[in-house]
Amino acid sequence: MRIAMIGAGYVGLVSGACLADFGHEVVCVDTDERKIEALRAGRVPIYEPGISELVLSNQSARRLSFTTSLAEAGRGARAIFIAVGTPSLAEVGSADMRYVHDAARAIAKVIDDFAVVVVKSTVPIGAGDEVERIIAETVPRDRFSVVSNPEFLREGAAIEDFKQPDRVVVGVGDDRAGAVMRDIYQPINAAGGQMVYTSRRSSEMIKYAANVFLAMKVTFINEIADLCERLDADVVDVSRGIGLDDRIGAKFLNPGPGFGGSCFPKDTLALSRLAIEAKAPIRLVETLVDVNDKRKVAMAAKVVKACGGSVAGKRIAVLGLTYKPKTDDMRDAPSLVIIPELQAGGAAVVAYDPEGAKMARDMLPGVEFVDNAYACLEGADAAVVITEWDEFRALDLERVKAALAKPVMVDMRNIYPIKRMKALGFRYVCVGRGFNGEG
Ligand code: UGA
Repeated sequence: MRIAMIGAGYVGLVSGACLADFGHEVVCVDTDERKIEALRAGRVPIYEPGISELVLSNQSARRLSFTTSLAEAGRGARAIFIAVGTPSLAEVGSADMRYVHDAARAIAKVIDDFAVVVVKSTVPIGAGDEVERIIAETVPRDRFSVVSNPEFLREGAAIEDFKQPDRVVVGVGDDRAGAVMRDIYQPINAAGGQMVYTSRRSSEMIKYAANVFLAMKVTFINEIADLCERLDADVVDVSRGIGLDDRIGAKFLNPGPGFGGSCFPKDTLALSRLAIEAKAPIRLVETLVDVNDKRKVAMAAKVVKACGGSVAGKRIAVLGLTYKPKTDDMRDAPSLVIIPELQAGGAAVVAYDPEGAKMARDMLPGVEFVDNAYACLEGADAAVVITEWDEFRALDLERVKAALAKPVMVDMRNIYPIKRMKALGFRYVCVGRGFNGEG
C-alpha cells in the first residue's frame, strides 16, 4: 500500500521506516528542506538504535523515500498519516494544534480518489473531528475518512516498540477505513499483536490516559522513595515487592530525578488543561505535574546537602544529561533544572553525556563539556549521575574514586551497589534507599 507520512520527526520517521519494512511504499514529507536533503542522502537526524540501518535498507529497496512535496507524496496514497508535533502552548499548557491543522489543510488539496487520514500525533480528545471538518471544507465526505491511531513507542526502543507493540489502537468510525487500517497493520496482527478498535475519541483518550498513567506511576514511586528515605526503608525492594503484583506491574517503578522528555511533561499538562476546560478537572494529574516540577529542584538540594550544605566554589561532575538513556533528546530533561540550580549555588559544573552533549551545549550555558566519564570526574568535589547510561553502570569504581577530589557520589538512578560504594569509602547518596543510602 502506498502511504504518505507527514512529519519526519521522531514518530514520523520511525513509523515511516517500520511501515516500509513491513512492505508498504512509504513517502515521508517534511517542510524542513535540510532534513529531507539529509535523509535522502542517508543521514538520519535522530539518535535511535537501529534507525539508520532501517532507513537505509528500505531506501535502497525503494520502499521508503523523502520529499518536501505533499502533492508528490499524496499521489495515489491510500493512507496519509499526520505525525507532526503538538507542543505545549506557552502559559496555558494545552496542545498547540497549529501543525496538525496545517497538515489537514494541505491534505485537503491532495486527496484524489479515497484516502484514510490517520492522526498519529498526540492530540486532544475531539481533535479528529476538527481535522475532518477542515478537510470537508474542500473534499466531499465520501472521499476521505479520519482515523485516530496513537503511537506508544519509547525513544531508545522505538523500532521494537513499533514492530512488536503491546497493542495497536485504532479509532475508526467506518468499515472502509477500518479495512485500510487492517491492511496496514496486517504484519503485526499476523504475529499475534493485539489490535484495539474503538471510536476516534476513545482512541485519542487512550493515548493521553496511557502516558499520564505511566507518569503517575513514576511520580508515585518517586514520592514513596522520599518516604523510604525518612523511614529507613529501601525503595528498590518496595518496587519489587509491589511490582510482582500483576495488578500493579513491575515497570515504571524506578525512582529518579523526575520524568522528562517530549511526551510526559507535555501530555500531563495538556490532559490537565483539557479536563479543566471540560469541567471535569483531574486533581491527581494537576498534582503530579506540580510534584514532578518540584522534584527536579529538590534533586539539586540533594546534591548541595551531599556536599556538606553548600556547592559554592565546588566543582561538580555530572554524568548524563539526556532525560533518559539511549537518546540524544534533551527536551524537559531534569538536568536542565538541576544544573542551573547548582550553578546558582556557586558550583562549577563539568558534564559528560554519551549522546546528548551536542543538543545540551546551547541549553546549558556555563557548563564545561568533556568527552568521557573519567575526564569529567577528574578533580571534582562530587559526582552526580542524572541519567543511567549503561556505560556509567560499568565504570571502574576504584578509578572513579581516585579521579574525584572528594569521594562523594550522588546517584539519582540507583545504579551502584550500596555495599560496594560504602566499602570503597564513598559518601554515596542515592534515591529512596533509607539510611543505608544516606537518603
Ligand atoms: C513515553 C511513553 O513511555 C511511550 O509509550 C510514548 O509513546 C511516548 O512517551 C510518547 O508519547 O511519544 P518516552 O518519553 O520515550 O516514552 O520515555 P519513557 O521511557 O516513557 O520515560 C519517560 C520519563 O520517565 C523519563 O524521564 C524516564 O527517566 C522516566 N522514568 C521512566 C523514570 O524515572 N522511572 C521509570 O521507572 C520509568
